[in-house]
Amino acid sequence: MMVPLQKVLEGARAGCYAIGSFNVYNSETIRGVIESGVDMNLPTIVAFGAGYIPNMRLKDAAALVRSQAADAPIDIALHLDHCKSLDIIREALDAGFTSVMYDGSALPFAENLANAAKVVSMAHAAGAGVEAELGGIAKGTHSNEEDGSEIYTSPDEAVELVRETGIDALAVSIGTVHGMYAGEPRVDVGRLKKIAAVVDIPLVLHGGSGTPEAIIRDCINNGIAKINVNTEISMHTVAKARAAIEANPKIHLSKLCLTEIEAIKEVVKKYMEFFRNR
Ligand code: 13P
Repeated sequence: MMVPLQKVLEGARAGCYAIGSFNVYNSETIRGVIESGVDMNLPTIVAFGAGYIPNMRLKDAAALVRSQAADAPIDIALHLDHCKSLDIIREALDAGFTSVMYDGSALPFAENLANAAKVVSMAHAAGAGVEAELGGIAKGTHSNEEDGSEIYTSPDEAVELVRETGIDALAVSIGTVHGMYAGEPRVDVGRLKKIAAVVDIPLVLHGGSGTPEAIIRDCINNGIAKINVNTEISMHTVAKARAAIEANPKIHLSKLCLTEIEAIKEVVKKYMEFFRNR
């Protein structure tokens, strides 16, 4: 069943576990993510990045997720990931998204705050939740995200943004990268602790791909309640598809799509298991 972001994250921070937010852009990724949630019996966030609108219209993504969620015995939030446009956020809410991320992180703080407040009033009126971001996340390898420079989140700004906007979740920059790490990951859990000490809403970790399990657990134990994963799902699935084509150059596309769904599920379930933090 479809639920808002707040519902899917309820209890996660206090219970020291995180909910996975997995990027989707076509029928195979949507099915792979939802089936993983059902197999693991875990609340799940299906994240459609605004950058993937060329792959699928918002209303088509919403229709597919809605029909699959209606049959699923778990809570599912349909989340608009990384969106800078208030018009696109409006369109997503109208299409039935239950969660939106307003990404004003590259703007001056006051502008990011003012826009996030507008998004909160739009989204809450529609019964949806809001994530905003403070700071900048760098881009590693193989990522489909825009380039970004690393700017760690300021705890003082975090307090003000949360207090003045009423957002439901806050994405923080503490050293993870979008994509795979070029070297050893250096994640500043000390900074996360400082933010978590002054902000009590669920904190969000972007750049889940390639982050070692021990670091993920450390982050979850210190306030992270939602973790985004994209790149590693794509890399693993492309590798599996390539191997399937090499093994059978005459493979039918319908069979290749089924191979892809299985590959997507392998990575999604691996991260779901980490995020349970048992
Ligand atoms: P990765 O591609 O590193 O998994 O990051 C995904 C993400 O943060 C999407 O918002």
